[in-house]
Amino acid sequence: MRILFVGDIFGRPGRNIVHERLPELQKQHAVDLTIANGENAAGGFGITAQIAEELFELGIDVITTGNHVWDKREIIDYMNSANGNEASLARRLLRPANYPAGTPGFGWYEGRTRGGVPYAVIDLQGRVFMAANDDPFRVADKLLESISAKVIVVDMHAEATSEKLSLGWYLEGRVTAVLGTHTHVPTADEQVLPGGTAVQTDVGMTGPYDSVIGVQKELILQRFLTNMPGRFEPATNDVRLCATLIDCGADTGRATGVQRIMARES
Ligand SMILES: [Fe+2]
Ligand SMILES: [Fe+2]
Repeated sequence: MRILFVGDIFGRPGRNIVHERLPELQKQHAVDLTIANGENAAGGFGITAQIAEELFELGIDVITTGNHVWDKREIIDYMNSANGNEASLARRLLRPANYPAGTPGFGWYEGRTRGGVPYAVIDLQGRVFMAANDDPFRVADKLLESISAKVIVVDMHAEATSEKLSLGWYLEGRVTAVLGTHTHVPTADEQVLPGGTAVQTDVGMTGPYDSVIGVQKELILQRFLTNMPGRFEPATNDVRLCATLIDCGADTGRATGVQRIMARES
């Protein structure tokens, strides 16, 4: 079976290119399961209930997030609406699983593809150069004890390539893929580890590349030149959809292929 993972969707430009290019990519590659990181989907900062549902409508099965998850505070109510409501769309919007106990929302999702294949998605956040959260390695161990699906995709939302790749080796043979998000730059290091786990340290942003990781470059430059606070606005030009395509056994969950995709505006 085929899994498509779309990297951090950034603002309206990111949403627009998902709208424009995702259906044909899903068709062209016979995709069975589509996952996307949506932490920057609302103007670059966070995600709203309406945007989450728009993305589900566009054919994304599960949305992961990361450090920007709470930027739009209304998302807390949406996440809470999934409590005791396993079938709700809101249950398919994840925050990192290694956040402190009692944090709203869920860090993993188990479901079935339209073809009936059981799968799971786990969202984790790194600790190097990021907020102090629980140990993502041990939290993954714990979650894997209770997950029965063989096809398991992990979004490792982290700054350091070393931490992301280490999680890949740590979970080798236990999950289908460990894909990095957060740095917004696609890395050319995709590989299938011998144990059948696909890894890539960053899938790359789905958004405007005439920018500094999605934000208007002039605003970021000002910040570096002056250290003064200022408003960050999403950029608009050179929009690309970055994603990673994984081939895996539906019965075994073992990855057999991994491929980077970069689609531009047509
Ligand atoms: Fe991001
Ligand atoms: Fe992030």
